[in-house]
Amino acid sequence: MSSQIKSSPWRLEWSDELSVCIPEIDAEHKHFIMLVNELNSAIISRMGIEEIKSCMSAILDDAVAHFAHEETLFRQWNYPEAGDHAEKHTQLKLALHEIMGTFERGGFDYEWIEAGLKVKQALVVHLLNEDMKYRDYCLKNNLSRC
Ligand SMILES: [Fe+2]
Ligand SMILES: [Fe+2]
Repeated sequence: MSSQIKSSPWRLEWSDELSVCIPEIDAEHKHFIMLVNELNSAIISRMGIEEIKSCMSAILDDAVAHFAHEETLFRQWNYPEAGDHAEKHTQLKLALHEIMGTFERGGFDYEWIEAGLKVKQALVVHLLNEDMKYRDYCLKNNLSRC
C-alpha cells in the first residue's frame, strides 16, 4: 500500500494526497472514509450484528450514490476512461455485497474482522488506483477546482 495513506489497520485518515481536486467528490470520499472507520470501530468494539450490518448498509448505499455521481461527472468531462472506471465500480459493488454476506451469515469474530479490513482495503485501492486517474485527467484539462 502507498506510504501516502496515513492509517492503522483499523483506521483510515484523510490527507491532502487523497484529494482528487474536485471539492464535492473529496467531500464524498471523506464521508466514505468516516463510514468505513465507523464499521471497523463497531467490529473491534464487538458491537452487535445489527449495528455492524447497519454500518455496512450505509457503506453500500453511499457507494452506490457516490459511484453514480462520479459516472455522471465522467460524461460531463468526456472522460475517456469512463467505461473502464464504471466497470471497476460494478466489480467493487459486487465485492462489497459479497463481504456483506459474511455479516449476514454470522460467522466467527475473525471473519468479521477480515471482512471489515477488506472493505477498507477495497476503498483505498479504488481511490488510489482508479480515482487518481481522473484527478490527473482533470488537472490536465483544466477541469479541477482546487
Ligand atoms: Fe471511482
Ligand atoms: Fe470515488
